[in-house]
Amino acid sequence: MRTIDWVNGAVEIIDQTALPGEERVLRLHTVGELIAAIQSLAVRGAPALGVAGAFGVALAARIHVDDPAALAVAVRRIETARPTAVNLARGAQRAAAVIAHGPEAVLAQACAIRDEEIAASAAMARLGADLVVALCGARPRLLTHCNTGALAAVTVGTALGVVGELHQRGRLAGVIASETRPLLQGARLTSWELTRWGIEHRVAVDSAGPFLMARGEVDAVILGADRICANGDVINKIGTYAHALGAHRAGIPFIVVAPESTVDPYTPSGAAVEIEDRGSAEVTAWSEAANPAFDITPYDLVTAIVTDRRIIRVDRGEKP
Ligand code: MRU
Repeated sequence: MRTIDWVNGAVEIIDQTALPGEERVLRLHTVGELIAAIQSLAVRGAPALGVAGAFGVALAARIHVDDPAALAVAVRRIETARPTAVNLARGAQRAAAVIAHGPEAVLAQACAIRDEEIAASAAMARLGADLVVALCGARPRLLTHCNTGALAAVTVGTALGVVGELHQRGRLAGVIASETRPLLQGARLTSWELTRWGIEHRVAVDSAGPFLMARGEVDAVILGADRICANGDVINKIGTYAHALGAHRAGIPFIVVAPESTVDPYTPSGAAVEIEDRGSAEVTAWSEAANPAFDITPYDLVTAIVTDRRIIRVDRGEKP
């Protein structure tokens, strides 16, 4: 299953706002439609956003083939559609870098970015599963947060790809999906993906995670990232930091799985990252709300970062 792809001149995505109730494919023909899909989280998750950004530039290159100024504006709109995941701007910029060679070259670049993410998912699944077994023993019980499956990464996924790999190896004793307030990426999307894979799981409210760890019901936390800073700080879905604190207190590994395309050597630490604020409406209809969509987990709470090429043992002083 490819959850985002280029099909007959348009971008096709699985509409993640409709899941799990309805499996609906959206065809996006314009830059405006693509940006609306990104901002509504119809397509979401860092690697998928990188691919969406690149395909968005491919759309723009076709539409504005004779208007470089309009094309430049479109590229800027795409790369800033959401601020936090580094993949979006990076994917758009990589595709835009070949605009001078024409729309077909831009599309080829976007397809290459898609293919790189597909390959990265497969590599992370293997590397991550090996590390989890090395750190936790034969049959770990894992807790994950947000959605890091194929929906977030074209195919397979990052942290959820590791969960799937452990399941296939017969080495998974259990998985808890943290529900991920307010948009329920864990309860809606991760649960939907785990069910499709035939992996038994439980959903827990976000605030239960650290308590379940304290009670000895979790052997490791494994989740993804939207940006990994040069010092190892991890930007990920709001709630990640609380799980890192819980893991630290419980003395269990806190493992971050993300492709190299999410590692951002130009951002020194989490303090330099714009955390998306998504406003009140997603949280409550009857009062004002603070709704930061991501948080920063300091590197000293991270055990290891698994990318498609490396295992960075942050707990041993290694940096991305
Ligand atoms: O707001 P979202 O749903 O796009 O946030 C996504 C996350 O925080 C994911 O954990 C992250 O992008 C990793 S995706 C493999």
